[in-house]
Parts: sequence; C-alpha cells; structure tokens
Amino acid sequence: MPTLGVIGSGNIGSAVARLAVAAGMNVVIANSRGPESLQGLVAELGPLARAVTVEDAAKLGDAVVLSIPLKAVRDLPTGLLQGKLVIDTSNYYPSRDGRIAELDNGTVTTSELVQGWVPGARYVKAFNNILAHHIPPAGQGRGCR
Ligand SMILES: NC(=O)c1ccc[n+]([C@@H]2O[C@H](COP(=O)([O-])OP(=O)(O)OC[C@H]3O[C@@H](n4cnc5c(N)ncnc54)[C@H](OP(=O)(O)O)[C@@H]3O)[C@@H](O)[C@H]2O)c1
Repeated sequence: MPTLGVIGSGNIGSAVARLAVAAGMNVVIANSRGPESLQGLVAELGPLARAVTVEDAAKLGDAVVLSIPLKAVRDLPTGLLQGKLVIDTSNYYPSRDGRIAELDNGTVTTSELVQGWVPGARYVKAFNNILAHHIPPAGQGRGCR
C-alpha cells in the first residue's frame, strides 16, 4: 500500500490524512512543531499513521500533500521535494502570508510561484478551491455535504 506524506496537519492536512487512512493508505504526517505535538492526531488516525518530521514526510511519502501557509512553503529546505509528486493546497492570503509582489501584480499564479519554490517536484494543485469542511469525513461516502 502506498504511503502518503502530509506536510501540514491543520484543517486540510488532517482531513486528507483521515481520508487516506480510511482508504487503507499509510500516512506520515508532519507539522512545524514536531512529531510529539501530533500524538493526539495520530492516535485518532490509527495504526496506519505516523507522526514524523517534515523531512521524513517528504522522504517517505510516495506522494506528498503540501498544506501549510503559502509563506511557509518559500522557507522549506531546498530540494526537500525533489522528484516527488506534490499535491499543493496553497492559497494566498496577504493578511496571513504578507504581500507577495509577483502575485499582487499578476506576474505569476500561486501554482507557478510554489512550483518555483519546490524545484524538481511533479506538481499538482488540489483542494485549494474548496473549504476544509467540504472534504467529507472518512466513511461518509463521496457526496458533498
Ligand atoms: N482551510 C481551508 O478551508 C482551506 C481550503 C483550501 C485551501 N487552503 C489552503 O491550504 C493551506 C493549509 O490550510 P489549512 O487551513 O489546513 O491551514 P492551518 O489549519 O492553519 O494549518 C497549517 C498547518 O501548517 C503547519 N505549518 C506551518 N508552517 C509549517 C512549516 N514551516 N513546516 C511544516 N508545517 C508547517 C502548521 O503546523 P503547526 O500547527 O505546528 O504550526 C499546521 O499544521 C493554506 O495555504 C490554505 O490557504 C485552506
């Protein structure tokens, strides 16, 4: 069974992790505060899930969901996601991320910006145009609620 790396354990990252374990996938999940801070979440996710460092989530994931504030993506270690299939949920909120000139003047899209920050990744944009609570809880079927 493949392993899904999840970087970011917030609204989106934890919702996707719940769906992944419900589908029988292994999940390695990381946040900024370290694996110890994720013990409650991994206990809830069950035996298929492990709390790891950001580096291990990137290394061990066959695909990696990147679901952290946009401004934090810029500061990820260089080469972290080289060669990885990356599923990026990023949106731009100036109030959270600060002003990013290239986005404000329309030179690039958020997807183009993030691709530049994760060189060598195979890049997919996903989940960014829905709200976290639109991701159905595990076991509740495929429909939107
Ligand atoms: N919420 C939504 O409905 C929604 C919908 C579509 C798209 N999005 C976008 O998806 C992304 C994530 O949103 P969210 O609502 O899930 O965010 P969130 O609930 O605020 O969670 C953010 C997560 O990112 C982690 N994080 C922050 N900086 C990090 C770093 N440098 N390294 C590793 N982990 C880091 C945080 O870890 P700590 O807890 O340890 O700080 C936290 O687990 C954002 O770009 C957001 O705009 C959100």
